[in-house]
Amino acid sequence: MSRLFFFLLGTVFVSAAAFIVFDKDYPNAQLPAQYVADVDHGETLFYASGCRSCHLSTNPTSPNELGGGEAFQTNFGTFYAPNISTSSTYGIGSWTFEDFYVAMKHGQNPTGSNYFPVFPYSSYSMMNTEDIADLWSYLQTLPAVDTPSKKHDLGFPFNIRETITVWNMLYADNAKYSLIDDRATYLVEALGHCAQCHTPRNILGGLKTVAWLKGGKNPSGKGKIPSIHPSDLKWSKEEIVEYLSSGFTPDYDVAGGKMASVVENTSRLSESDRIYIAEYLLRLNDE
Ligand code: HEC
Ligand code: HEC
Repeated sequence: MSRLFFFLLGTVFVSAAAFIVFDKDYPNAQLPAQYVADVDHGETLFYASGCRSCHLSTNPTSPNELGGGEAFQTNFGTFYAPNISTSSTYGIGSWTFEDFYVAMKHGQNPTGSNYFPVFPYSSYSMMNTEDIADLWSYLQTLPAVDTPSKKHDLGFPFNIRETITVWNMLYADNAKYSLIDDRATYLVEALGHCAQCHTPRNILGGLKTVAWLKGGKNPSGKGKIPSIHPSDLKWSKEEIVEYLSSGFTPDYDVAGGKMASVVENTSRLSESDRIYIAEYLLRLNDE
């Protein structure tokens, strides 16, 4: 039996204890009194944060059908992106904004059980409340998809959602909630969740922050995800911006694999946002 197995089994007990000790009621979403939903801004956030890359229906009949179904193979088993469309039977159509806020900020469903971090809430938790509300209002404009979500295919003990309580204590950086006031960092770390793919992971699936954006094994087991740290990626600012806009690399290769759908999203951002992302990457050389 692997070390990982026993570790996780241990976490089940620790989590059960934590559950008793900590009250899981989170403070309500605090929206300023004068808040007015901005659906267009919500659409930009939708692309910047890549929801579509994972939740798009496998056979969509219109552009942004979020019926889910995409499979994510990992060391822990296969996860399937759920239906997050406005269908109240199969999607999240019956949710309140508060339910959505807790999912994005705390990685928990309306009944209080944990999501698995394959849903990158550990990045989205750094989004500010108005942005989560704008994104929510945009999601309301998308069609209902009436197909059920697929069940994940996970072995014991990886299927136990309580184990994630400990994972969250270790790897979901609560201290960073809403503290990002710099656009570049916000785009890369909170929305774009670039690190979720480009930073290597430890045995528990936590990000190895010492090797931030330095690439690593592909979590789906096939090949490697390249480093985008400037000590490895010797691209100029203009070259990075071009790639995020058209998918073309400096030697006219084209973005492939999962990056193709990331580029579909970044191509819809403003040029100034792409420049911010490029500047963030180049800045890593100074750290
Ligand atoms: C890397 C793929 C990925 C990305 C990107 C992603 N999700 Fe998900 N999402 C998932 C998976 C997988 C789950 C299922 C998690 C679980 O069952 O614990 C999930 C779960 C959810 C749920 C819970 C659904 C339910 O029925 O309880 C919501 C809501 C959600 N995601 C919204 C979003 C939004 C909004 C975005 C963009 C801001 C987003 N997701 C981006 C993969 C992703
Ligand atoms: C879902 C996983 C995923 C996410 C999220 C992701 N990437 Fe990538 N990225 C990849 C993969 C896979 C490749 C390799 C693409 C290829 O082989 O053509 C790649 C390639 C790249 C490259 C080109 C590297 C090279 O040497 O060719 C850059 C630059 C890049 N990504 C930047 C980003 C930025 C910036 C973000 C966040 C906005 C991001 N990526 C988010 C998976 C991802």
